[in-house]
Amino acid sequence: MDKNKVITLLNEDLEGEHGAIIQYLTHAYAMGEGEMACEIEAIAREEMRHLDWLAETIVELGGIPSLKRGKMRMSGDSVADWMRNDVLLEEDGINLYREHIKAIDDPKIRRLVERILSDEESHHRDFEHFVEKAQREGAKDVRGSRTDRVVQTLNWGIEHEYTVILQYMFQSYMTTNKEAKKELEDQAINEMQHLGWLAEKIIDISGNPELKHTEVDQSTKTADMLRADIDIERKVAAEYDCTAKETEDPKLKDLLLRMRDHELYHAEVFGDLLKKEEGKAQG
Ligand SMILES: [Fe+2]
Ligand SMILES: [Fe+2]
Ligand SMILES: [Fe+2]
Repeated sequence: MDKNKVITLLNEDLEGEHGAIIQYLTHAYAMGEGEMACEIEAIAREEMRHLDWLAETIVELGGIPSLKRGKMRMSGDSVADWMRNDVLLEEDGINLYREHIKAIDDPKIRRLVERILSDEESHHRDFEHFVEKAQREGAKDVRGSRTDRVVQTLNWGIEHEYTVILQYMFQSYMTTNKEAKKELEDQAINEMQHLGWLAEKIIDISGNPELKHTEVDQSTKTADMLRADIDIERKVAAEYDCTAKETEDPKLKDLLLRMRDHELYHAEVFGDLLKKEEGKAQG
């Protein structure tokens, strides 16, 4: 099979993983604290590893990892309905991976896809079990309908965090600077933590966390990537700082200030990398 065709198939798989991550996280957050929500978050983390392996393989083949999100199945009025949709999404993935295994002849890539398929079969069983468990335990949607300024600001934060997670991951795949790659991976993981904190906080105050993102910077030169990152970090640090000063909720204030400090740290790390990168260009 021609290399470009393999890249296309793997990007289709990657988009599917992206959709699954967001569908499962949305469900896990909406269920609040509890064992089942934790297990679903753990499944979402496995999908992130799949996405990462697929992206690295695409880059090794000379391709560009897709930033599109695949189909999601977000309907349903009860937790049991959501779990049925998660079963169906796993079936979509399983069918696609089986087709791709048949089509791909590179043994190393086929082995990777088979490895992912076996995880999806295990997730499928988990979600079937969760349908039954949700019915038995009467699992509830714990989201509220609060939409005031605080909830809006926290959802703005989620939108920012989701955007930079995609941006830093994409850049980590595309940069040829090894040190920048490692930092971008580390900071993407830190932004995932922020996204989770924000979603939990929104649930705490009876809002509805919305997992949307805005435009992702797709610079191809490392220095341009870092400039875009520093810019976005400074903006979000200022926004978190400003919101922290306005809020009277002491826990929310702590959360916002902690994230602000992380974002300032990210800006500094990226600033150091940019100086080195510019030094290289001149030297
Ligand atoms: Fe899965
Ligand atoms: Fe962040
Ligand atoms: Fe950041």
